Amino acid sequence: MNNIAIFASGSGSNAEQIIKHFKDSKTTKVELILCNKPDAFVLQRAENHNIKSITFTKNELCQSSKVIDALTEHKIDYIVLAGFLLLMPANIVEKYNTKIINIHPALLPKFGGKGMYGENVHRAVIEAKESTSGITIHHVNQHFDEGDTIFQAEVAVCKEDTAETLAQKIHQLEHKYFPSIIEQQLEKL
Ligand code: GRF
Repeated sequence: MNNIAIFASGSGSNAEQIIKHFKDSKTTKVELILCNKPDAFVLQRAENHNIKSITFTKNELCQSSKVIDALTEHKIDYIVLAGFLLLMPANIVEKYNTKIINIHPALLPKFGGKGMYGENVHRAVIEAKESTSGITIHHVNQHFDEGDTIFQAEVAVCKEDTAETLAQKIHQLEHKYFPSIIEQQLEKL
């Protein structure tokens, strides 16, 4: 059995799609949700699906062994970042190496890096008058949004699009592709 941990900071709609995707899997279990925001809705979603969750501060992530100890204790094999806003510290990136995946709501290498998250990304895409945007699913290294790309999918940006409508389109793409791309990666372990 592959045990997955999902790191998220916000609503957790991607986390929930992943939980649902692997619900009846005989090979993969979403074992733990890790979150740096005590009031994030992802924690409620975890509870609704009877998935254990832990919260931690930025300091605990970077300066203590709380998070890596939890990963070890829960025998986590693979890490998914789904709307997680902090940089993964070196000790976790080293330990999991190619076994951490992230989703970014734009076509990297454009519109990535520090500060490029959530609405900021979609606003920047619209301001740049891009005709397409999309999603990038990629490996994680110690720099924001710079790991090798695994998969991209595109969507048209229309003249009428706002950051909000573009975010909705992107979420649809994310929910459609992220769980099955994770499954493909797990098959290669
Ligand atoms: C997604 O758009 C993801 O690409 C980005 O943060 C958002 C998280 O959404 N990294 P949700 O919390 O999964 O609904």
